[in-house]
Amino acid sequence: MSKDFVMNTYGRYDVVFEKGLGTKIYDINGKEYIDFVSGVAVNCLGHSHPAIVNALYEQSKKLIHISNYYWNTEHTLLAEKLIHHSDHSKVFFCNSGTEAVEGSLKLARKYGKQKADNKNVILYMNNSFHGRSMGALSVTGQPKYQQDFMPLIGGVKQIEFNNIEDLINNFDESVCGIIIEPIQGEGGIHVADLDFLQTARNLCNQYDAVLIFDEIQCGIGRLGNLFAYKEFGVIPDVIAMAKGLGGGFPIGAFLCNERTSIGLGQGDHGSTYGGNPLGSAVSLAVLKELIDGGIIDTVDQKSNYMKEQLYKLKEQYGMIEEIRGMGLLLGIVVEDAKSFVNACFDMGLLVVTAGPNVVRLLPPLNVSNADIDQALKIFEEVMKLSKSEFS
Ligand SMILES: Cc1ncc(COP(=O)(O)O)c(C=O)c1O
Repeated sequence: MSKDFVMNTYGRYDVVFEKGLGTKIYDINGKEYIDFVSGVAVNCLGHSHPAIVNALYEQSKKLIHISNYYWNTEHTLLAEKLIHHSDHSKVFFCNSGTEAVEGSLKLARKYGKQKADNKNVILYMNNSFHGRSMGALSVTGQPKYQQDFMPLIGGVKQIEFNNIEDLINNFDESVCGIIIEPIQGEGGIHVADLDFLQTARNLCNQYDAVLIFDEIQCGIGRLGNLFAYKEFGVIPDVIAMAKGLGGGFPIGAFLCNERTSIGLGQGDHGSTYGGNPLGSAVSLAVLKELIDGGIIDTVDQKSNYMKEQLYKLKEQYGMIEEIRGMGLLLGIVVEDAKSFVNACFDMGLLVVTAGPNVVRLLPPLNVSNADIDQALKIFEEVMKLSKSEFS
């Protein structure tokens, strides 16, 4: 198998995965791993869940793709389901998180334009991550991702995450929108303060701007509610989502409320594959399992169980400095996250870093307590064996 022809943009592990089932994944040599990365918060039902396999099979026999010049039943049902569970009224479908962010930013820009010619500034947070396209990158407050791609789009301004004063000082009539991750995922599992989100909400009301929540990593049940904003009680105007929405099938979307829906009209935005019958059918099957199958209702219990066990390890080994996050989006602060993640990998546990000091745990939402025990046993082994190496 040649690896020479795939562009070298990722620091990949030297492993080739072949198949997976539930929380377990197997490489081509048959080695088993417990997957607490879940394709970075994508495989919310684990690998090869029968509901997804069945939806793919059944829908692909009927209709895989049509153009958005026409309606299909599946995308209307999916839209209806998302609207039913949210405080919003319209959906736009696309293929990825980045695309959901791009569409949300465009909506904010055009919404602003309809209010005043110079109402076009978008506020974003330091330490954020919203994607790699030029627009999404422009509001991603991490120089390491931006610096080689300057100039990025103009009319954006960085705010210090959770700094209410900074937010108030930079908000005025020129602001058309603000984009916030309720929990910064890639940036290190930093949870937004309720006061900060509430202030952003109030300022958007006061200045008639669009409050966008990027729930791409923290949404779709990961915090114990279909939408992350419900855990905070602050309702955004626009929600960008992707990842868990398709459980592994590429689909993204953004929702908006009635007020901001004037931001995008006919001809303003599009996506060839967005909301195609196959993707929509899979997403419907995922949501059915998560909501009707009661999986989301179990997230709090699993989160509490996992945190309890992690606190025990923190006490026992002293390697864990802090445990952050909510639901099944948890971050363990250690001195050298990369070495820790690599040691877990060698022992058959997949976890991922979020910055230099944070190990991110993103199990599937239907993870069992037995899987959690098995994963944390490996955590413990890593701590036991290598304490001196990592601390
Ligand atoms: C919060 C957040 N926003 C946007 C993105 C970009 O999503 P995608 O990689 O699907 O384009 C990600 C991906 O990790 C993310 O975590």
